[in-house]
Amino acid sequence: MERVFSGAQPTGNLHLGNYLGAIRNWVALQKDFECIFCVVDLHAITVWQEPNELRSNIRELAASMIASGIDPEKHVLFNQSQVSAHAELAWIFNCIARIGWLNRMTQFKEKAGKNRENASLGLYAYPSLMAADILAYKATHVPVGEDQKQHLELTRDIAIKFNNDFGVEFFPQPDPLILGPATRVMSLRDGSKKMSKSDASDMSRINMTDDADTLAKKIRKAKTDPEPLPSEAAGLEGRPEAKNLITIYAALTDANVSDVLVEHGGTQFSGFKQALTDVVVEKLAPITEEMARLKADNTYIDAVLAKGAERADAIAQPILKEVKEIVGFLNR
Ligand code: AMP
Ligand code: TRP
Repeated sequence: MERVFSGAQPTGNLHLGNYLGAIRNWVALQKDFECIFCVVDLHAITVWQEPNELRSNIRELAASMIASGIDPEKHVLFNQSQVSAHAELAWIFNCIARIGWLNRMTQFKEKAGKNRENASLGLYAYPSLMAADILAYKATHVPVGEDQKQHLELTRDIAIKFNNDFGVEFFPQPDPLILGPATRVMSLRDGSKKMSKSDASDMSRINMTDDADTLAKKIRKAKTDPEPLPSEAAGLEGRPEAKNLITIYAALTDANVSDVLVEHGGTQFSGFKQALTDVVVEKLAPITEEMARLKADNTYIDAVLAKGAERADAIAQPILKEVKEIVGFLNR
């Protein structure tokens, strides 16, 4: 059986990179797979979160997924901390994974920065919890961005070592699915940096909550170069800002970059930016409006998450029970 699992952290400032690089791809997978989508709040607290903001961000992320087209009736949508199997399996995996494996994780190095001694133990063990998320459901396919490929490899290593150590064929080795034409949406202010929730400048990103006027202003002020648009993809080499805007346009219109350049090649950025604004507003406005409507209804969101947690639990518990038997624990 083929099962998709993916997660995103409720850490605020949801932006176009999250939509094009993650959520939109998840929506598409619903037609071919059984899908489990998780708001990974346990991962979020590996760095400090203000409790009230965390609560609000969990609901906002769930709302954005539903507004984007995740169907919580047909598939499973829940938040991680409501299903205890994640934390329990993560502990077992902490005892399977080797310190040397985790020392190689580039995301830890980036997030911990210079003051590694002061990073939380949870931030270090983050990939082991991620492996638990996926393997608690024996998921076979995991849609993620490029930046998560290394964590997926670690997940496979943990699955293999668990199977070897206990002489079982229990966990599958999940495959990453790196999807979509826009796996890396770049900052509007600097084409060499990823669009990111943590960029100090709000002008660097298109937020999923921005209204049409804000979107228009951000795109108008986006960094470009003085040359007109090229007519072929090769002409985008060495022009990261141009490449980014064209890629966003292509992704949102389900076209490829060459087609966009056939249409807009030779024109000035001012005209293209207007066309891009129209497309961004057309695609994002319905989602933004639905998000605002859902966000005003905490009762509905909380009920969706509670129901999702129950269904997730029903899948994960029997798997965890078997894991405990394999490890040598006594089950109740
Ligand atoms: P994060 O907000 O970093 O937790 O990421 C949530 C999801 O969005 C992950 O699947 C990321 O790979 C994806 N993502 C984040 N930023 C970008 C970006 N600038 N371009 C494409 N995908 C992104
Ligand atoms: N680490 C992922 C990110 O930052 C989020 C995540 C947590 C995840 N658990 C997962 C993604 C399991 C896929 C599968 O984007």
